[in-house]
Amino acid sequence: MYALNSIVFSYKSSNRIIIVNFVKLQEIIQISHIKKTYVIGEETIHALKDVSVTIHKNEYVALMGPSGSGKSTLMNMLGCLDSPTSGEYILNNISVAKMSDNELAEVRNKEIGFVFQTFNLLPRASTLENVALPLVYAGFSKSEREKRAKEVLEQVGLGNRMNHKPNELSGGQRQRVAIARALVNKPAIILADEPTGNLDSKTSIEIMGLFEDIHKNGNTIILVTHEEDIALHAHRVVRLRDGLVESDLPNEKIITYKNRLETTNNQ
Ligand SMILES: Nc1ncnc2c1ncn2[C@@H]1O[C@H](COP(=O)(O)OP(=O)(O)OP(=O)(O)O)[C@@H](O)[C@H]1O
Ligand SMILES: [Mg+2]
Repeated sequence: MYALNSIVFSYKSSNRIIIVNFVKLQEIIQISHIKKTYVIGEETIHALKDVSVTIHKNEYVALMGPSGSGKSTLMNMLGCLDSPTSGEYILNNISVAKMSDNELAEVRNKEIGFVFQTFNLLPRASTLENVALPLVYAGFSKSEREKRAKEVLEQVGLGNRMNHKPNELSGGQRQRVAIARALVNKPAIILADEPTGNLDSKTSIEIMGLFEDIHKNGNTIILVTHEEDIALHAHRVVRLRDGLVESDLPNEKIITYKNRLETTNNQ
């Protein structure tokens, strides 16, 4: 796939010269003919039947589909938390199947940030400790961990909630902590499985504003949602049905955080 990078106009006497510069979009995720089969007792479940998708650097993709269509299974695969029964996954031009356990752990920790519907925060740890945790595994010193965790907490608007425990925060704030934790290792890819599933609509819009900023900062985002109005924030919508890609289309009517605020205020 190619994108128009820049158009340079220059003038040479009366002749106009137009230089059009195309850059190749960088493929970050390439999955081909992925199958995932679960066998439970006598029953075989074909969670993913034959899924092929290519995602480029800095794309913002919504993954939709009915319950049981394979969205979380695919996200687990993309996040290297699970491996496919067959098919190939190329991440950053490297075949995931050929990675050693250490390489996989490193990819999971440094290349990919996860955000879940239920936040998955440590209940007894403070906001700062929750966000700093992935940096422990990445081998940073305590002062570096705190410095970096504070920076991302400021970025998600929680600079004034560093010492609160999760149960002392609102749902939206908890999800911001989880997003800060996903960002703390500066991963290229953010995978979010129904990040607004437990939030009211106003808080959901705020969280979508945060994803918009993260996307503008250069991250690749893949976000599972059941809600059409949440999916409209993404730039591309992939729909799964019964373990297959039903459609994969650009979003022609992208909604921004600003648009949403205006519509909400006019209601
Ligand atoms: N660990 C597992 N063992 C056995 N079957 C599983 C497992 N995980 C998922 N499945 C089955 O695979 C299918 C796809 O599940 P998946 O969780 O990917 O769906 P989903 O699209 O995320 O649904 P939802 O919208 O409800 O979250 C379902 O039929 C589910 O029951
Ligand atoms: Mg799911």
